[in-house]
Amino acid sequence: MSNDNWKGYQKFKISRPNTEAYYDLIRTVFTQGVEQVCNNTKFSNTIDLGCGSGELTQDLLNYSHKVTGVDSSPELIRLAQKDADPQKLNFIHSDVLALPCYLI
Ligand SMILES: C[S@@+](CC[C@H](N)C(=O)[O-])C[C@H]1O[C@@H](n2cnc3c(N)ncnc32)[C@H](O)[C@@H]1O
Repeated sequence: MSNDNWKGYQKFKISRPNTEAYYDLIRTVFTQGVEQVCNNTKFSNTIDLGCGSGELTQDLLNYSHKVTGVDSSPELIRLAQKDADPQKLNFIHSDVLALPCYLI
């Protein structure tokens, strides 16, 4: 897991107007999809596999009391942990394929 291919991803997402607009669209579509799945219920726990720097993980708190984000990039996990409320958000640096069964 030492090969961090996603280093700098957060900066890339806002590097150009077109790129930023693309990721805004992704966030909108993601939110609409989650709203459909939730159908006005709030889940107890949710897991976000490949959470990156955690923006969408934070958004999931609108639909879940607690959210766990998992990512193999140490840099992105560090960014995600910054300013995260530990009562509600938990970030794990791991390959998703190496997670213990009780998490998934
Ligand atoms: C396209 S990015 C999406 C990040 C975030 N979900 C977002 O929307 O901003 C894919 C993410 O998946 C992570 N990833 C890829 N393969 C992984 C694996 N096997 N285990 C954990 N994370 C992985 C990468 O580090 C990267 O942060």
